[in-house]
Parts: sequence; C-alpha cells; structure tokens
Amino acid sequence: MTAYQKAKIFYISIGFWLTLGVECFSGGRNHTVTIKPGGSVTIPCHYDEKNPPQKKYWYSAIDNLYINTTEENLSVIDHPDQSLFTVTMRNMQSSTHNGDYCCIVETDGKKTVTYELDLLVQSAPDVSVMNSSVSGHEGDNVSVQCFYTSGYQNKLKQWCRYKDQSCYTGKRTDTPQNSSVQIGDDGRSSFTVLMTGLRLSDSGWYFCSAGEALNPVHLTVTEAEPVSVTTDTGTEKDKWRFCLSHN
Ligand SMILES: *[C@@H]1O[C@H](CO)[C@@H](O)[C@H](O)[C@H]1NC(C)=O
Ligand SMILES: *[C@@H]1O[C@H](CO)[C@@H](O)[C@H](O)[C@H]1NC(C)=O
Ligand SMILES: *[C@@H]1O[C@H](CO)[C@@H](O)[C@H](O)[C@H]1NC(C)=O
Ligand SMILES: *[C@@H]1O[C@H](CO)[C@@H](O)[C@H](O)[C@H]1NC(C)=O
Ligand SMILES: *[C@@H]1O[C@H](CO)[C@@H](O)[C@H](O)[C@H]1NC(C)=O
Ligand SMILES: *[C@@H]1O[C@H](CO)[C@@H](O)[C@H](O)[C@H]1NC(C)=O
Repeated sequence: MTAYQKAKIFYISIGFWLTLGVECFSGGRNHTVTIKPGGSVTIPCHYDEKNPPQKKYWYSAIDNLYINTTEENLSVIDHPDQSLFTVTMRNMQSSTHNGDYCCIVETDGKKTVTYELDLLVQSAPDVSVMNSSVSGHEGDNVSVQCFYTSGYQNKLKQWCRYKDQSCYTGKRTDTPQNSSVQIGDDGRSSFTVLMTGLRLSDSGWYFCSAGEALNPVHLTVTEAEPVSVTTDTGTEKDKWRFCLSHN
C-alpha cells in the first residue's frame, strides 16, 4: 500500500465522520470553473478575518475527501495576512477531477461551507483568461481579457471580487472610493475588463464570469513608482548647466 493510498483511506475515514456535520453542495450549481486537460487552477477560499477558523479544508465531493495538506498536484496554502487560503490543483484530468468541491472552515469544532464550486476539465474551457495573474502600480490601469465560447455569447458578463462577492456588470461605475471598472464585450468571443486608477486595496482575488462559468484572476497592486519628475528636473538642470558652461 502506498503512502498516498494510506493517506486516502485515512482521509476517507475522517471524511466519513466529518460528513455528518457538513452539507457541501446544497445550493445551485452557479459557479463552474472549466480547465483544459493538464491545466491548473487556483481557487481562493476567504474566511472571517475577525474570527479566523482553526482548520481549513478543501473538500472533494467526488471521493469525500477533506484535504488540508500539500502534495504534488494539489496545494492547500493558508494566507492569514489576507484571511484566505488558496487551493491549487495541477495536472487536471476529467477522469479524476470533474466534480463538486467546497471550501470548508472549522471554528470551535463547527464546520462551515464557505464556497461551492463545480470543476470541469474540457478541451475548450467555457470561460478562460490568458494570464490568471495580473499586476499594476497604484493609480495605473489594468485590463483583463476574458474569453468565452459561443454558447456564452448571450450570458451576463461580470467581473466580481471574491472577498465580498461584489460584481460589476457591463455598466460603468465611477465612485470616488473605488477604482472605476468598465467592461467591453465584443459579443463574439471575449470581453475586456478595464480597471482604472488602481488602489492598493484593489489587490486580491477576482473572477470574470459569463453566466455560471467563471475563471479566477489574481490582481496585485503595488505602490506607485517614485515619480520620475525629479529625474526630469535633474535632466533639465543638467541641460541648463550644459548650456551655461558652453555660453
Ligand atoms: C446560486 O444558486 C442559488 C440556488 O439556486 C441561488 O439561491 C443563488 O441566488 C444563486 N447565486 C447566484 C450568485 O446566482
Ligand atoms: C488537517 O486536518 C487534520 C484533521 O482534522 C488535523 O489533524 C491537522 O492538524 C490538519 N492539518 C493542517 C495543516 O491544518
Ligand atoms: C500528478 O499528475 C501527474 C499527471 O497527471 C501524474 O502523472 C502524477 O502521478 C500525479 N501525482 C500524484 C502524486 O498524484
Ligand atoms: C502573468 O502575469 C504576471 C504578472 O503580470 C507575470 O509575472 C507572469 O510572467 C505572466 N505569466 C504569463 C504566463 O504570461
Ligand atoms: C486609464 O484609463 C483612463 C480611461 O480609459 C484614461 O483616461 C487614462 O489615461 C488611463 N491612464 C493610464 C495611466 O493609462
Ligand atoms: C466601494 O468602496 C467602498 C469602500 O471602500 C466599499 O464599501 C464598496 O463596497 C465599494 N463598492 C463597490 C461596488 O465595490
């Protein structure tokens, strides 16, 4: 028996007892992530920052596994500074990975499902992004292009933040506190999300979605680069010095 099989039996047995207290996938299937065969995906699982849970699990409904460890094709990593843990699944294959999953947190012995997700491995993902990690400086603009298949042309396109599940739809929103988000849909195969005037607080996990199909995107906003005006002034001064010395 391999260590993996042993671990699996161990998790199945604890899974059996834990199932008594948790109902994963009770709600509708309105979050579906589709991934290319052999591809990978990272899912953020947010938790209460004021009352962080003692244990965090990624639950696979396929084989009733509660996973909180990291192995070759699967990582469960806690980020207490961001009040979330991430789950990365790699080398995905439809035969072993298609199914329902949940983020589960345990506080004072009580398990709570915080997020439910349907994962599907398919050669043409319903919604996909080029790069699931984008970054920009404070004050900059960043755009994310989200591709969708023809079946999703008429579905609602959204850009949502995982943390509070707030979503932007096609309309433009401009408020003093928030970055402005605009969505441009070509109506055929992709829509582009433009976030202007990035703020440090915009950092975090988002997803773009068409109907129930979504794809997670991580945004990193870094502090604005030191303004280059000082260098320009320096150059101006140097020019003056250059001129003066030659006059
Ligand atoms: C997801 O589905 C459930 C049950 O069908 C529904 O109550 C909920 O409003 C849906 N959520 C979204 C974001 O559509
Ligand atoms: C994973 O869960 C098991 C069973 O609840 C627990 O004993 C273990 O400490 C957990 N490990 C981590 C890294 O949270
Ligand atoms: C990880 O995925 C690869 C490709 O599917 C597979 O060959 C390998 O056995 C997997 N590793 C584990 C520990 O399951
Ligand atoms: C994705 O974007 C990040 C940040 O902009 C960059 O570091 C990374 O190299 C990009 N990856 C790919 C595959 O383009
Ligand atoms: C950001 O986008 C806005 C609106 O499209 C534009 O006016 C502004 O010049 C852009 N800023 C930068 C730094 O590209
Ligand atoms: C705008 O920002 C405020 C405070 O930063 C936040 O409470 C609100 O939810 C944000 N609105 C949207 C649509 O994200």
